[in-house]
Amino acid sequence: MQANDLISAAERLRSARRVVVFSGAGMSAESGIPTFRDALTGLWSRFDAERLATPEAFERDPELVWGWYEWRRMKMLRAQPNPGHRALVDLSRHVAQLAVITQNVDDLHERAGSTPVLHLHGRLNEPRCSRCACAYPIGDQIPDEPQDGRRLAPPRCARCDGAIRPGVVWFGEALPLDEFERAQDAAMQCDVWMTVGTSGLVYPAAELPLRAQRAGAWLLQINPQMTGLDDHYDTCIAGTAAATLPALITALQDGARISG
Ligand code: OAD
Repeated sequence: MQANDLISAAERLRSARRVVVFSGAGMSAESGIPTFRDALTGLWSRFDAERLATPEAFERDPELVWGWYEWRRMKMLRAQPNPGHRALVDLSRHVAQLAVITQNVDDLHERAGSTPVLHLHGRLNEPRCSRCACAYPIGDQIPDEPQDGRRLAPPRCARCDGAIRPGVVWFGEALPLDEFERAQDAAMQCDVWMTVGTSGLVYPAAELPLRAQRAGAWLLQINPQMTGLDDHYDTCIAGTAAATLPALITALQDGARISG
């Protein structure tokens, strides 16, 4: 981790009024939730997205798809927020306005205490009817963790008897309009945009940092690897979320003590 970059990022944050944190799967990796594109452990390296993450897949084989998402939901329920999630809550005490925009379908930002959190790709804990869109209260009991290939019949809707589907955005589906519009507004208005743990490969979410930059924001990226968008960022810090974000808060607090 580059100390000078941390210090200059902390200075930017200190003078910012509106800050956006834009997170991807790397944010939750140190909580034990797999990313999508890691060559060995990523979900899309081990499972076929076409068979699991499209509306057609659910129509073709609802038990396969529901079983797989239940496996992921159990992983989420067992996971705990990591120091990176918690550092963002600390950050919210240092800036006038902090919005978290996430592509993650877990609730670890919320469980750490962040608010508001905009979920561009939906939420695992908010399934709904595939026919009438009625919300289905799923609860958060943790039964035995299903195996990753275990088929499970989706529950039925109490109103119309349609199959309940996971509350996530699948390939080929639109993002939730209200949350995407609010994310676009936040991008247009922020002073600092901080991207954490995303490959930046999935659109339209990936265009948000560029929109923020065009509107005049200063852009920071935190990721242990390079991404295709490195050149767009003002500063890229090579490090993990759970190590870098707490270090950034420490730099912010140290700087405040010096200038105070
Ligand atoms: P990816 O798996 O594409 O990228 C994860 C990123 O996290 C990579 O750039 C890693 O280098 C980085 N990373 C790994 N460990 C990290 C750590 N400990 N700290 C910080 N960064 C780390 O996941 P996303 O970019 O989130 O969409 O993927 C975007 C979308 O593609 C997902 O929301 C999902 C997927 O298909 C839908 O399901 C619609």
